[in-house]
Amino acid sequence: MSFDVSGNAYDRFMGRYALELAPAFADFVGVHEGKVVDVGCGSGILTEELARRVGAENVAAADPSPLLETCRERVPEADVRPGTAEELPWTDDSFDAALAQLVLHFLDDPVVGITEMRRVTRPGGVVAASTWNFPQMPLVRTFWESARDLRLDAPSETQQFETLDELAALGRSAGLGEVEAAPLDVSIRYESFSQLWSTFELGAGPAGEFCASLPEADRETVRDEYQRRLGNPAGSFDLPAQAWVLRGSV
Ligand SMILES: C[S@@+](CC[C@H](N)C(=O)[O-])C[C@H]1O[C@@H](n2cnc3c(N)ncnc32)[C@H](O)[C@@H]1O
Repeated sequence: MSFDVSGNAYDRFMGRYALELAPAFADFVGVHEGKVVDVGCGSGILTEELARRVGAENVAAADPSPLLETCRERVPEADVRPGTAEELPWTDDSFDAALAQLVLHFLDDPVVGITEMRRVTRPGGVVAASTWNFPQMPLVRTFWESARDLRLDAPSETQQFETLDELAALGRSAGLGEVEAAPLDVSIRYESFSQLWSTFELGAGPAGEFCASLPEADRETVRDEYQRRLGNPAGSFDLPAQAWVLRGSV
């Protein structure tokens, strides 16, 4: 499983992006009070942001991976439980809001996950999910393009939807009302290309897992191609990324 890594490995790789996204996502959802659940919480970056807003004792979080332990350490007073978006370990109407950050594309059927998030949210509450717009997420997209240059069997990370309208339709299919879908842009600064590349070698997420599994010579070829495709950045540089966010009412 590509998230069977330390919280530190995740935080250095995708966590940098999650940290930028979390406050913007929570603002989009309008989280200021009440009880909230972070679905697919990973190492707890969004969980911590939610705790800052509503108090840790009002925050719950679930994830199927060992990253959950880092979430527990990060927000000890939150109600952190093993679980999946498809089968959440809480009763109906437990929360005022349910959020899932960067989780949708790991679900076989996002409608099932969003429907389950709706089940644990009270009538009038909010369900929200964010995910990458992969064409505008060079960290991951350009890595897979580089890998496929070398190994045609390299997998890809894609969504079950291609437009914001399709994402909104997914929310409606899961029974949400007043659905809104919008883009959310972040930008991450790296000190050097080597710093960026070292985060792939930690084995986190599908791209990191694939990278770490390569024989050294192949890994170096992919790294060189990746560096070339990113424009051979010299010194520090910024890498933009666009998430798509979905919000709907119960
Ligand atoms: C990219 S990480 C995002 C983690 C966290 N939400 C964040 O923003 O940093 C994807 C997370 O989805 C979790 N995940 C994978 N399959 C899942 C499922 N079926 N239900 C809930 N979470 C899942 C993984 O364990 C991982 O922690």
